[in-house]
Amino acid sequence: MMIRTAQAGDLDAVAALEAACFPPAEAAGRDALQQRLAVFGQHFLLLTEEDGTLVGFINGMVTDLPDLEDRMYDQAGLHNEKGAWQMIFGLDVREQDRCRGYGGQLIKAMTEHAQRQGRKGLVLTCKDYRIPYYAKFGFADEGFCGSVHGGVRWHQMRLTF
Ligand SMILES: CC(C)(COP(=O)(O)OP(=O)(O)OC[C@H]1O[C@@H](n2cnc3c(N)ncnc32)[C@H](O)[C@@H]1OP(=O)(O)O)[C@@H](O)C(=O)NCCC(=O)NCCS
Repeated sequence: MMIRTAQAGDLDAVAALEAACFPPAEAAGRDALQQRLAVFGQHFLLLTEEDGTLVGFINGMVTDLPDLEDRMYDQAGLHNEKGAWQMIFGLDVREQDRCRGYGGQLIKAMTEHAQRQGRKGLVLTCKDYRIPYYAKFGFADEGFCGSVHGGVRWHQMRLTF
């Protein structure tokens, strides 16, 4: 397996995996993913097999805004390459490869990526049952946040360096 940053040509594979991993109300659409890849593809980390098959990915914009806001999901233009915080909009691993540590590898890779770039830390939102999982990687739960993405209430978690 290898981890690399995304290119525009990865759109089909990324969009297919996103649609397989999240319910329609929560999944990023193809257009939103195309915009994200064009504006901040360097903050898309892809885990692939030797032959290039996509197994998983993690992505998010960088911003000085301290909290993850729903408008960020569809407004790639809010990305600020000089920003303090690395947001995580999605963590996706294909079903047949789950529970082998790949999700953890991607979280660690994005954490090292943010540290190398001198960020203050990382921010994500998740459902309550995922809190223990992200806590294993150093994220602290900040409780329910303002996000109602997909009609769900989300917790915000933060890893501060
Ligand atoms: C969430 C998701 C990304 C996790 O990916 P993953 O590759 O299965 O993650 P990991 O393998 O790192 O860890 C998953 C579980 O497997 C366990 N695990 C990891 N390696 C393992 C192994 N070799 N043997 C047994 N269990 C293992 C982990 O401890 C973890 O257990 P926990 O959930 O009780 O904490 C994946 O389930 C997914 O894509 N879900 C759909 C989209 C989604 O919900 N994304 C997150 C939104 S917040």
